[in-house]
Amino acid sequence: MTPSSTTDRPASPAVSIPFDALDVAKRFGTPTWVYDAATLERRVAELTRPGVTVRYAQKANSSLALLSLMRKLGVVVDAVTEGEIRRGLKVGYEPSEIVYTADLFDDAALDTIRTHGCPVNVGSPDMIAQLGDAGLSHIPVTLRLNPGFGHGHSQKVNTGGTSSKHGIWHTQIADCIALGKKHGVRIRGLHMHIGSGADFEHLAQVGDAMVDAVQAYVDAGGPGLDLVSTGGGLPIPYRKDAEHYHRLDLDRFFAVWGEAHERIKQIAGDQVELEVEPGRYLVAECGYLVTKVRSTKVQGAGDDAKDFLLIDAGFNDLLRPAMYGAYHHLSVVPADGRALGDELDYVVAGPLCESCDVFTQAEGGFVETRRLPEARPGDLVVIHDAGAYGAAMSSNYNSRYAAAEVLNHGGELHLTRQRQTFEQLVENERVPDGL
Ligand SMILES: Cc1ncc(COP(=O)(O)O)c(C=O)c1O
Repeated sequence: MTPSSTTDRPASPAVSIPFDALDVAKRFGTPTWVYDAATLERRVAELTRPGVTVRYAQKANSSLALLSLMRKLGVVVDAVTEGEIRRGLKVGYEPSEIVYTADLFDDAALDTIRTHGCPVNVGSPDMIAQLGDAGLSHIPVTLRLNPGFGHGHSQKVNTGGTSSKHGIWHTQIADCIALGKKHGVRIRGLHMHIGSGADFEHLAQVGDAMVDAVQAYVDAGGPGLDLVSTGGGLPIPYRKDAEHYHRLDLDRFFAVWGEAHERIKQIAGDQVELEVEPGRYLVAECGYLVTKVRSTKVQGAGDDAKDFLLIDAGFNDLLRPAMYGAYHHLSVVPADGRALGDELDYVVAGPLCESCDVFTQAEGGFVETRRLPEARPGDLVVIHDAGAYGAAMSSNYNSRYAAAEVLNHGGELHLTRQRQTFEQLVENERVPDGL
């Protein structure tokens, strides 16, 4: 279709790419993840407040390079699996700085906790008994609570209420204390992850729920509390246009939790510390997925026709659009250095043999178009805000290799993960004799 100039759109806040994307494509190929260390450092600095522990939820991105940077910046971590515990240990975290937080133990996690003694945030009452039965009653425990209501940017990330598998139902605090006493397990903190950073009314509700939980805990004769954790869920401004751009007011966020923390201290004592546990907020904006346009085509004719921009990354690389209809800002980088041209309404899609392999879609799988400068095969499309739940959720679907990862640090691009090879892809597979 014919490109047209658009001058009537609201101005976006400046969106820039803090590295030379063409250089990335040339040196490392495409698709390649690039993480900008300076952006990550800025986000850590913003969250670093007196008396508040920042615990990085590494499920968002467990790259060893990013974990090392987090450790250097004084951020501790959580881990959901044995693998995540071991990643933390590998970059030099002390076991006491890694909290295992999950709704169940598997054998591997339990063995690793036995070996290293990491604290545990239990999401099911059974886990308390299982720690006792495994001879691990010395492990410090916090209770992850489900306050009975939830929140989240999609039903798929709603972390509270009766339909959520996460956490211990809030009325079972006394039962957990009793279980702890029976098995000699010492509970030392309470935790809630409700994903409510954007909506302050809801956040205040979570703060109130935490205060109520602390009161219930104290009333039930729970052992002294050392900490309460707010979980994560702090949002980032995925949409850049003036109408939708919204950056979290962190001062207000900390004011709400600070007020709840004061009430908690009055109930449970001044020793109770406050912890925040963000994943996305710390790493989403530092991440970019550099992809190459391999084909452009038009489907249909006349008013119904749609322009497609086919790039060499798929939902096996970045799942969020296909999974939640998540929005990611896209930039076109011309390969030949030409100025950006007039804009077209594009559907941006990938190489996978699935019709949902589309980066411009709404929740429910409804394909949308995005107004982007005209792009040609060979140009780059850079996907922004891809640092959280990007590489971490990627897969080998269609036998695609895990993309390379690069850290932009100290003015240089460092390869932090080589692109996976075919040999690595199949190395654990065996074909039975005679086939
Ligand atoms: C227990 C817990 N803490 C923290 C997080 C991090 O959430 P986000 O990356 O949205 O900050 C999650 C995400 O699922 C979580 O389950």
